[in-house]
Formats: sequence, C-alpha cells, structure tokens
Amino acid sequence: MHFELSEEQLMIQQAARDFAQNELKPGVIERDEHQKFPTEQVKKLGELGFLGMMVDGKYNGSGMDALSYVLVMEELSKIDASASVVVSVNNSLVCYGLESYGTEAQKEKYLKPLASGQMIGAFCLSEPEAGSDATSQQTTAEDKGDYYLLNGTKNWITNGSTAGVYLVIAQTHKELKHKGINAFIVEKGTPGFTVGPKENKLGIRGSDTHSLMFNDVKVLKENRIGEDGFGFKFAMKTLEGGRIGIAAQALGIAAGAYELALAYAQQRKSFGKPIAEHQAIAFKLADMATQIEAARMLVYKAAWLKDQGQSYTLAGSMAKLYASKVAMDVTVEAVQIHGGYGFVKEYHVERLMRDAKITQIYEGTSEIQKMVISRNILD
Ligand code: CAA
Repeated sequence: MHFELSEEQLMIQQAARDFAQNELKPGVIERDEHQKFPTEQVKKLGELGFLGMMVDGKYNGSGMDALSYVLVMEELSKIDASASVVVSVNNSLVCYGLESYGTEAQKEKYLKPLASGQMIGAFCLSEPEAGSDATSQQTTAEDKGDYYLLNGTKNWITNGSTAGVYLVIAQTHKELKHKGINAFIVEKGTPGFTVGPKENKLGIRGSDTHSLMFNDVKVLKENRIGEDGFGFKFAMKTLEGGRIGIAAQALGIAAGAYELALAYAQQRKSFGKPIAEHQAIAFKLADMATQIEAARMLVYKAAWLKDQGQSYTLAGSMAKLYASKVAMDVTVEAVQIHGGYGFVKEYHVERLMRDAKITQIYEGTSEIQKMVISRNILD
C-alpha cells in the first residue's frame, strides 16, 4: 500500500488548483447570487480536457484515471461546486455511460463532442414521483417499430437547459417493471421536447437545474443504449461511478471551507491572541482536519478500486455517504469560526455550507447510500 500521487497526478491536481483560483474564484459570488451558469469557465474546462477525463483518446477524451478525476473534482469544488457538478455529470454519468454501453456509431456521434467539451450532456432519471425509488419510472417510451415515442416529465436535471445531449431513462414494458426500462439519447431541439423554468435553489446556484417535458418525442431506435430492457442497469452502473464524483465534490467543499477557516482563525484576534490559539477553535480545526482526511481516504480508495478494475459499488457509496456528511459538518463549523463574517457572502463559507447540502441528496440520498451499503455487507 502506498499513498503517493504520481508525477502526472500531481500535475493534474496543480492544473485544477490553478484553474479554480484564476478562473473560477473571480465571479463565483456573483454567479451564485444571480444563478448564472459558468458558461465561459465550462468552455475552458473542456479545452483543458476536464470534461472527458477518463474517455479514451480515440473519442477525444484525456485517457486519465479515476484518481486524477477525483483530484480535479476536489480542487474545483474547493472554489465552485456549481462548476464542478457540470464536470461530474458530464464525466461520470454521460461520457462514462456512453463509452461503456454505447454503440460505435453513438460514440462517434455523441461521445466525441461531449468528451472534448464541444457540448455538455445531462442525465435524466429523476421524476416528480420517482427520485429514490428509481424503478417507478412514469416516463414512457412506446415501441413504434423504427422509433420510440417518449412521454413524461423529468425533474431536477443538472445541465437542464445548457446540455446538447440528454440520456433519458423511460419505461417501455410496464409489466416487466425495472426489466422493462430503457435509456435513450435525446438531442436538444427534438420536436416535443421542452425545458421547464430554472429551479431557484439553496445551493449550487450557478448550476443549471430544470424539469424537462417530453410530449410525443420521436427517438430513433438507434438511439437506445444497450439491449431492450437494459435501462435500469445502465442507470445503476453509471450512478456507481457518479457517486465517486459527488463524493469528491463533497470532499472539495469541506476542504475549501476548512482552508478558509484555518487562515481566518490564524489571523483574527480575540482576547489578545489569534482565535486559533484558543482551544475552542483549535479543537474545531483538529476535528475538521481529521474528518477531511478520513473522507479523502475513502474517496481515493473508491477511485483506486475503479482504476484497478475491481468492484467499487460499496466503496463509492461509503465515500459519498461519509464525505457528504463531512462537507455538511465542516462547512457549518467553518461558518461558526468566522462568526459574523461567516454569515455574509464575501467570506465564501456560507456559500460552501449551502452547496454542501446537495451532496447528501443527489446521485442517491444518504439514506439510499445506506441501503446500498447494508445490502452489500449483508450479502
Ligand atoms: N449495478 C448493476 N445492477 C444493479 C445495481 C448496480 N449497482 N443496483 C441494482 N441493480 C439491479 C439489481 O440487480 C436488480 O436487477 P435484477 O432484478 O436483474 O437482479 C435491479 O437493478 C433492481 O435492483 P433492486 O431490487 O435493488 O432495486 P430497488 O428498487 O430496491 O432500488 C436502489 C435500488 C439502489 C435504491 C436504486 O433505486 C437507487 O439507486 N435509487 C437512487 C436513485 C438515484 O441515485 N438517483 C439520482 C438521480 S441522478 C442525479 O442526481 C444526477 C444529477 O443530475 C446530479
């Protein structure tokens, strides 16, 4: 067992750190305030190869490992979790899903522009009545021979209005329950497909979250992913990797808040000395540093297992469950350490606290992660 990162991984980590400081930090408060999508920044992330990090070079990807991907997610999320969720969804849900299960023609047509960042993708599983209970899909895909007819509504879709390509999960054979579900590639602009208003959110306000409506949307059979009925397994397999990405996002949010709290505590004085020298604050910092290090080990291990070609279902869920709790706990303490300053936007920690909450909800709530973990350990 060794804990060192390779030269290449260190370089990628530094590149992401520099990008976050130079490109994401300026304007992050304003984007959050006005719910402004980081359009320019996402374009540059694509140019850096961060939108198709694990995709093979022959499909315009960067061919990096999963550990490099989590290093990038961690660094970006320290500064701007609204930008990092775009990176996470595009890499682990959309590109991974297409590269692993798409046909050659689908990869040529869709994966190449997605991996190079020419366009971004969205993953559409959640519905008004199907969030955690993902097998209860109400969106239907009626088999019409050469094509399917999609009808239904999807909710809380990341990259909802900015995506060019949507991976949509829908029910084809209701009587077969989860075995009758399919996944489809739907292009933006397909007749009958409309994007609802933007959600006004607590956190990750710069990201673009919408409901989507499908009204007799014709999708060619060649745009179905995998065999008939593969859609639910497709969603589950894809989300397994997605959960590592969100765990890394949570880790980054926690680490970003901790770094700010540490610097503030060393400079802010009360009762004649820096507040970091009061045991009340020093012990908070000690707890925060320890929790973050433990979360980091879980996240890196899950990515490492993926890189080794080993099962990472359990490790990914443990990493997400723990790192998202750490993100919540650490950001609350970071606000507390900042006192009154922590409650105002200029000091960043209140935004990180608001951003942290979603990591306990999307890509499987903490309760769902406990279901996955308990089923795995009781197997
Ligand atoms: N890999 C492969 N197959 C899997 C699997 C996995 N990880 N997990 C389950 N399956 C298969 C099972 O083997 C079973 O298939 P068979 O009948 O052929 O054996 C089938 O799927 C159904 O499994 P379960 O009986 O376990 O299903 P369940 O109804 O109990 O639910 C669940 C399982 C884990 C709770 C699942 O519903 C789930 O993960 N729910 C949460 C959904 C979620 O994460 N949503 C996030 C939305 S996406 C998002 O947030 C993206 C974004 O924009 C940021």
